[in-house]
Amino acid sequence: MGAVSTAPRSRVSARLSAIAPSATLVVDAKAKALKAAGHPVIGFGAGEPDFATPDYIVEAAVAAAKDPANHKYTPAKGMPALREAVAAKTLRDSGYEVCPDDVVITNGGKQAVYEAFAAIVDLGDEVILPAPYWVTYPECIRLAGGTPIEVFAGADQGYKVTVAQLEAARTERTKAVLVCSPSNPTGAVYTPAELTAIGQWALEHGVWVITDEIYEHLLYDGAQAAHIVALVPELADQAIVLNGVAKTYAMTGWRVGWMISPSDVTKAATNLQSHLSSNVANVSQVAALTALSGDLSAVHDMREAFDRRRLLMVDMLRGIDGLVVPVPQGAFYAYPSVEGLLGRTLRGTVIDSSMTLANLALEHAEVAVVPGEAFGRSGYLRLSYATSDANIAEGVGRLQQLLAEAV
Ligand SMILES: Cc1ncc(COP(=O)(O)O)c(C=O)c1O
Repeated sequence: MGAVSTAPRSRVSARLSAIAPSATLVVDAKAKALKAAGHPVIGFGAGEPDFATPDYIVEAAVAAAKDPANHKYTPAKGMPALREAVAAKTLRDSGYEVCPDDVVITNGGKQAVYEAFAAIVDLGDEVILPAPYWVTYPECIRLAGGTPIEVFAGADQGYKVTVAQLEAARTERTKAVLVCSPSNPTGAVYTPAELTAIGQWALEHGVWVITDEIYEHLLYDGAQAAHIVALVPELADQAIVLNGVAKTYAMTGWRVGWMISPSDVTKAATNLQSHLSSNVANVSQVAALTALSGDLSAVHDMREAFDRRRLLMVDMLRGIDGLVVPVPQGAFYAYPSVEGLLGRTLRGTVIDSSMTLANLALEHAEVAVVPGEAFGRSGYLRLSYATSDANIAEGVGRLQQLLAEAV
């Protein structure tokens, strides 16, 4: 018989103790608390449209709430009509056919991210993760037992990784590569040629592609919509497509996303979901169905506003000495490099990292931004321009004034 350990057992599992809180939500919560206490905080932290969900979607949801059929459980993988609408929308927007059976409706895009990694990653598998990356990816990879392998692309390469970098990171344990275009946090958009090259590389080496397309409709400056599975159709058998209604239709609170995958993966994810959460709230599913079945005019109006705000924010940020500000071509984030400010002193504090800078901005200018540390590397700030023109003018104006003091 082995010796019985007398060490006290930890209360929280090692697996969950290792999860860091979502840094973007932490910044947002800090800013909201200050605001609630009466401070005139301008928040550039949150990643959500400031618009209300379009009326016709809300009205469909109200009607759905009154229908007793929606008061009951529905299939765990999603209502058939919504899965069909996702397939039709994918054909309309991405140009390729998917079977509605290969769609799982999830509780927001976030649950699709979690389930995608849970479905294909085994203990010890490596997932190549282009950085800067969205905060949730590395946590979901680790929760699945995998190891995120960061491949960094800075402002000098437009925050886009090359195939040569991916190949240098590939080992025999590489299971998948994550693609997020348009990108959170950088706003970078891969061209069709770049995505084709990544898709062909993945195909050649048997690497799965997990492609997060949640910002697909938020493109500017003539950036082309590009979908890796449409560009490299043979990838379909080793690709998982993630998407949702949150960003496109200003529906972050409704919690509807989806994943599209080969049928064995779909089955595994459905089994997981049947134990984890079952069906997404029926009222939300009907709202998503209404959004996806309608046209894209509301999206176009919102995109126009984001575009105007994007240019205003970039223009004002470029007025700050020490910042390098690439023009984002997608999503709703600016991602300046602040490396030129590191080492300077501001109101008695040495700016030794972007985290310090973000704290100084909140403390002295009452402006909330997310430091690059949240996305894998210090030296950057993420500012969301999904807020009013007046907020951008006021908030970035305050940053200009404060940072002019850094010497
Ligand atoms: C890149 C990316 N993917 C997925 C999501 C998930 O969105 P939701 O869970 O709100 O649908 C987000 C939200 O911030 C995101 O930025």
